[in-house]
Amino acid sequence: MPNHSSCRLVCSTSLLFATFYFVQAHIKHLSISFYFNMEFHKFRIRSYEGQSDRAQVENLERKCEVAELDNELVGVIQGSIKVVTVQGHPPKDLAKVGYVLGLRVSQNHRRKGIGSSLVTTLEEWFISNDVDYAYMATEKENHASTNLFINKFHYTKFRTPSILVNPVNHHSFKFSSNIEISRLKIEQAESLYRRFMGSTEFFPNDIGNILKNKLSLGTWMAYYKDDINIGPNGQIPKSWAMLSVWNSGEIFKLKLGKVPFCCLLYTKSWCLIDKIFPCLKLPTLPDFYNPFGFYFMYGVYHEGPFSGKLVRALCQFVHNMAKENKDEKVKIIVTEVGGRDELNHHIPHWKLLSCPEDLWCIKALKNEGLSINTFHELTKTSPTRALFVDPREV
Ligand SMILES: CC(C)(COP(=O)(O)OP(=O)(O)OC[C@H]1O[C@@H](n2cnc3c(N)ncnc32)[C@H](O)[C@@H]1OP(=O)(O)O)[C@@H](O)C(=O)NCCC(=O)NCCS
Repeated sequence: MPNHSSCRLVCSTSLLFATFYFVQAHIKHLSISFYFNMEFHKFRIRSYEGQSDRAQVENLERKCEVAELDNELVGVIQGSIKVVTVQGHPPKDLAKVGYVLGLRVSQNHRRKGIGSSLVTTLEEWFISNDVDYAYMATEKENHASTNLFINKFHYTKFRTPSILVNPVNHHSFKFSSNIEISRLKIEQAESLYRRFMGSTEFFPNDIGNILKNKLSLGTWMAYYKDDINIGPNGQIPKSWAMLSVWNSGEIFKLKLGKVPFCCLLYTKSWCLIDKIFPCLKLPTLPDFYNPFGFYFMYGVYHEGPFSGKLVRALCQFVHNMAKENKDEKVKIIVTEVGGRDELNHHIPHWKLLSCPEDLWCIKALKNEGLSINTFHELTKTSPTRALFVDPREV
């Protein structure tokens, strides 16, 4: 099995098979693993088939509204498996985790057990692949989802990272001429990540695959030009910061649906002021009513007394890069950091667009003593600890 694999299941009104397949890094289908029949009242669960299901799944995800016709998709779920850092997990602080994402059931078919059936099937796939823990993320106000996972499937609240969102506006940022930003080679980035973030919770053991993925646009490091620690042999500067950028817009585009009139008015008038008085360099709220892409900044790390300013400079650098990318219509830059992490202060974001508490829940899938002990440690420790958020799961 590859070190990061995933599957997508759909529930339809009249199909017969459940098929699982492995996908590497969300891009490449590796193999069909196995088939089985599963009858669920009048519904059937089967695997996702890229070409034929795509439009229906997009429709389901967009509005969660699908008409009740034969062969209609009525539910979908995705899952991925990988090895990550979990402190205290034997033997080497590494655990196999399964991530649950994209659970959707069409509105007309809810409360009939379809969501539960999809979760059960995905958990069975995890268990058959020797997964230690299943985890998922949701908004804490999503009562249907929290009831389903916490009350019915016994997941435990575990972390509450913040999703920070910054709009891309028309103006480029200029940062101090004393700051140098240089692009790292994939091998350099991997080595720095393993050295400095290897013990961060949920750090993916296959970091190299993420960095090599075609959606990963690169890794950049910032430091002060006059830092006396930078030597010819590439020593680590005294203060430095790094981050990587993932082009999420290449997989899916976002769009605001119905918005309140006041919000529309606010955006339009703000844009107008910006056009009339460009010298004010107002941070504009972009047009979110047409499909747009976004960049996800991952692996944000900083060290040293003045490194906060370097994180800010890197974020501004990414902003300028997004502004230049006219093809992808990148309108926001997103990142996710451990709750109350000091990084929140250094990463530019709009509170209005951000989510202060994304709720992560976890469940131990093995009942052996060691796993259960680690699980208790994991759920007891401060929910504000730093987390590595995998861009493949965004
Ligand atoms: C969340 C969702 C997938 C549930 O699907 P479903 O097929 O209706 O779920 P089930 O019928 O299996 O319900 C299982 C349990 O979930 C909880 N639940 C489901 N819908 C609920 C609701 N509207 N309010 C409160 N609890 C709810 C209940 O505990 C329910 O058990 P019960 O029916 O015995 O009381 C569905 O509401 C949905 O697609 N929502 C929009 C997308 C979403 O929020 N996805 C989750 C992201 S993590």
